[in-house]
Amino acid sequence: MKRYLILISGRGSNMEALLDAGLPGACAAVISNRPDADGLASAARRGIATAVVDHREFASREDFDAALAAKIETFAPDLVLLSGFMRILGDTFVARFSGRVLNIHPSLLPSFRGIKTHAQALAAGVRLHGCSVHFVTPALDGGPIIAQAAVPVLAGDDESHLAERVLVEEHRLYPRVARWFLDGRLQLLDGRVRLAGEVAIEAALHAPQVEET
Ligand code: GAR
Repeated sequence: MKRYLILISGRGSNMEALLDAGLPGACAAVISNRPDADGLASAARRGIATAVVDHREFASREDFDAALAAKIETFAPDLVLLSGFMRILGDTFVARFSGRVLNIHPSLLPSFRGIKTHAQALAAGVRLHGCSVHFVTPALDGGPIIAQAAVPVLAGDDESHLAERVLVEEHRLYPRVARWFLDGRLQLLDGRVRLAGEVAIEAALHAPQVEET
């Protein structure tokens, strides 16, 4: 059975969705870069091993990345799932775990990289917003996209209403993609996403049905 490890920085609702999805793998650990991340207690309640690698204890990004990589290796995971993990990982880290790290980002990439994605979407006036799951590469929020879910931007939406609607889709999409990887049906091959077997490409897109009034 494959082993997966989850990295968090805060609330951990995507982590909970992953842990509660009955994935075909064992969760080896949840690691946070913040000792006060709420998700740590929630993982511990589920009987999952937890660890903290506090980024504030390291003089440089490289030192933090090296310590985090070393801690991850002690759990020997096949897959690392960034789940609201809010640190940028450097090239050395990414190369070390190449093809084994996924991230969920709250926008329809390549639009709205970085932070405050819901505010960015509202400011841009887009009609569709959503979330993306992608392989992690050195480009920030720029790795090959595996799957996306869209939600409509509604009249009167503010940042928190829009974020809430996107989060519902995040909780559906991320476990689905993690399952593909753990089942051996998802790979990063020559820098491209390869979905094999019975995974229909339609399953990598979830879009709302818009009714005309
Ligand atoms: C989620 O919306 C996730 O997509 C986002 O942070 C939130 C974490 O919530 N991640 C990023 O912005 C990564 N760049 P959670 O801790 O409840 O899963």
